[in-house]
Amino acid sequence: MAKREHQDGFATRAIHEGQGADPATGATITPVYQTVTYTQDALGENRGFEYSRTDNPTRRALEEALASLEGGRFGVAYGSGMAAIAGTMQLVHAGDHVVVADDLYGGSYRLFTRVLPHYGVRFSYADATRPEELAKAVEPTTRMVWIETPTNPMLRLVDVAACAEIARRQGALLVVDNTFATPLLQNPLALGAHVCVHSTTKYIGGHSDVIGGAVVVDDEESAETLRFTRNATGGIPGPWDAWLTLRGLKTLSLRMRQHQENAQQVAEFLGTRSEVAAVHYPGLPDHPGHELAARQQAGFGAMISFEIEASTDEIPLFLSALNLFTLAESLGGVESLVAHPASMTHAAMSEEDQAKAGITCQLLRLSVGIEHIEDLQADLDNGFDAVLQNRRNTQRVRNVA
Ligand SMILES: Cc1ncc(COP(=O)(O)O)c(C=O)c1O
Repeated sequence: MAKREHQDGFATRAIHEGQGADPATGATITPVYQTVTYTQDALGENRGFEYSRTDNPTRRALEEALASLEGGRFGVAYGSGMAAIAGTMQLVHAGDHVVVADDLYGGSYRLFTRVLPHYGVRFSYADATRPEELAKAVEPTTRMVWIETPTNPMLRLVDVAACAEIARRQGALLVVDNTFATPLLQNPLALGAHVCVHSTTKYIGGHSDVIGGAVVVDDEESAETLRFTRNATGGIPGPWDAWLTLRGLKTLSLRMRQHQENAQQVAEFLGTRSEVAAVHYPGLPDHPGHELAARQQAGFGAMISFEIEASTDEIPLFLSALNLFTLAESLGGVESLVAHPASMTHAAMSEEDQAKAGITCQLLRLSVGIEHIEDLQADLDNGFDAVLQNRRNTQRVRNVA
C-alpha cells in the first residue's frame, strides 16, 4: 500500500471548503449563479462581482475548494482541461523555451507542437522518468518544465521533487498535470511544483457529464496573470458546469477508494492472463515506478494500460465483446472505459513519437470504474474469449481447407 497518508480532512474540505451557506439567501448548497451581470448599488459600488466572465460565485466556490485540496492559495477554473493548459501557457512568452516530458496527453502534445510554436514559444521533449535527461534538455531560455505523472497512457512515474529542483536551478516554473493522480493522491505543489493543472472532466467531476479544467498555484503573481489572461481570452466554465464539478468533487475521496480497489484487482487479474504481454499499473510491485508512486502518492490510482497479445484484426474483436468497459475517450468517471490510445487519445502524435513513447497498436488503456469487481473481470474474460474463439474458428477453417 502507498506510504503517504491521505491528506488531513480531505473529505471534509471537499464538501465544505469555499461552500459555506450562500450569503444572499442562506442556501446550504452553493447555488448555480446563472447570471451574466450583477446590479451595482451605485456608480463604482458592487458586491464583489461585476460580470461573470471575470468572476462568478459558483465558479469561485469551486476554485476555493480546489485550491484548498491542492494546498495552494489560488484556484483558477477553466472551460476544459485544454483551456486550463492553454491558460497556463500564458505564463511563458515569445522567445521562451519549454522542456516537456515526452510521455504526455495527446492534446497537450498537439497544443505544444501545432499551435504554440506559431507564437514564438519553443519546445523540447525529454524522458522525464530520468530527471537527468530532463536536465540535459534545459537551455538558457528555458522558462517552464512540463510533466505529467503518472503518464498517459503508459502509467510511468516521474519524480516531481527531482524535476522541481531542476526547474528551480534554472529559475523556470515546474508545471504538473495532476489529472490522473487527483488532488487526493498527489499534491504537486507540496512536492515543489509551481503550477498544478487538472482536467476536472476526469476524476474530479467523476461522472463523465461535464467538461472542465483548473489550475492551482500558490504564487500571487502567477495567479494574477492566470486570472487576467483568462478574463482577456474568455475560457471560463459556465456556472452549471462549475456546479456539477463541485458536486462531483464532494465524493472524490469515496469514489477513489473504490476505483483503486477495483484497479488493483483488475491489474492483478490481467497479469494472470496468457493473452496479456505486459500490464502497466503503478500498484503492481514489479512496476518500475512502484516505489516512487508509494513515496509521492497516497494511492496508485485507477488507470491501467496493458499490451494484449493479439493481431491488429483481433483487437476489434476483443473490444466489441466488452459490455461494461465502454469503448470511449476520457477517463475518471464512475463507469469503466476502454481506449485504444494509438488511434484514439494519442492519434495526434506522429507514428514515430508514438513508438518512442511505447504506444503500440496492441496497447489498450482502461479507466477502471466503481462497478462490482466480479462483473468487470467477467467482462474482460468475454473479450479474451472472443479472441480465442476466433483463433479456434480460423484454425478449424484452415484444417478443413
Ligand atoms: C492528462 C490529461 N490532461 C488534460 C486533458 C484535457 O482535458 P479536457 O478534455 O478536459 O480538455 C486530458 C484529457 O483526456 C488528460 O487526460
